[in-house]
Amino acid sequence: MKVDGTPYRSLWWDTDAEALQIIDQRWLPHDFRIEQLDSLQGFASAIKDMHVRGAPLIGATAAYGMALAMRQDPSDAALQQAWEALNQTRPTAINLRWALNRCRDLLLGLPLEQRGQAALSLAHEIADEDVEINRRIGEHGLKLIQDIAAQKSDDSPVRLLTHCNAGWIATVDWGTATSPMYHAHDADIPLHVWVDETRPRNQGALTAWELGSHGISHSYITDNAGGHLMQHGLVDMVITGTDRTTRQGDVCNKIGTYLKALAAKDNNIPFYVALPSPTIDWTVLDGISEIPIEDRAAAEVSHIQGRTDTGEISTVQVTPEGTSVSNPAFDVTPNHLVTGLITERGVCAASEAGLAALFPDMAPPA
Ligand code: MRU
Repeated sequence: MKVDGTPYRSLWWDTDAEALQIIDQRWLPHDFRIEQLDSLQGFASAIKDMHVRGAPLIGATAAYGMALAMRQDPSDAALQQAWEALNQTRPTAINLRWALNRCRDLLLGLPLEQRGQAALSLAHEIADEDVEINRRIGEHGLKLIQDIAAQKSDDSPVRLLTHCNAGWIATVDWGTATSPMYHAHDADIPLHVWVDETRPRNQGALTAWELGSHGISHSYITDNAGGHLMQHGLVDMVITGTDRTTRQGDVCNKIGTYLKALAAKDNNIPFYVALPSPTIDWTVLDGISEIPIEDRAAAEVSHIQGRTDTGEISTVQVTPEGTSVSNPAFDVTPNHLVTGLITERGVCAASEAGLAALFPDMAPPA
């Protein structure tokens, strides 16, 4: 996608520097900064401290981290060390482990002298695949938006609601939940997107920045506004991303997603989840009991970052000194609240049968 007219992916390999360039998302939407990652420790911190974030992007970043490690030392010990250092960064999004395992499985079968090049080629492959998967999610999601537009008797916009940032900077390009929005906008379907602010880290501001850059009409709303908007007939469809979807279609996504799904159910509004296949955890059935939920730092809740009137990016405290804070970063929306999963192979029911029918090559035998 474009930033100030220049096309970008959210990461790219710099051959001269032998390093990965990323967009440091801690400063967005206020400041667009590029950061170079050239050590394993740098990769691990960038993922853990959310310079890069979003399930598909942390998977792709981890693959480049493995590549860097293998180019510096292709031994089995270095491979295992890189796998462990990167795997412990964030526990919930499954794309991280998926990418690391894919790298490890390939590399362990290769002689040492081939590992550096093979690891880099695989990281490029994972990044390119992500772009294509998300493009296809956009095509399938577009049909759902077209159906809603066709039911309207006038040219009023299709009103979508999204939570967190499942946009292009959460992936390598296109985004997952935002890809149908880009496709619909480019097909001249009038749209308006309600963007949840998504406390504590306000990823909604990233979504607002992305949609604004693409000329898509949107309003930034508090996390508590969605139910009210739904009750008043102002939302036609909800689309969110996912960090891990179980084989029975339970969806683990940014904290607060579950409440949006409940409100959507109560108001008979379709609740769709954009799901790239690397985000399916085929080893897990029940999301509520089996998915580890990341607990993040109290300061994310007790403090808030923004831009001051003088243009500085600054952090202020919102809680009384010494207040106890809890910060679970994700929640699980059970499959019965999910209308459908928008995947790169089409839309399916959020169920074991639905996923297995679309992905028979990946699903474990019944
Ligand atoms: O904690 P984050 O910002 O990494 O969480 C991101 C989300 O919850 C996204 O919705 C999810 O990763 C899907 S991104 C295409």
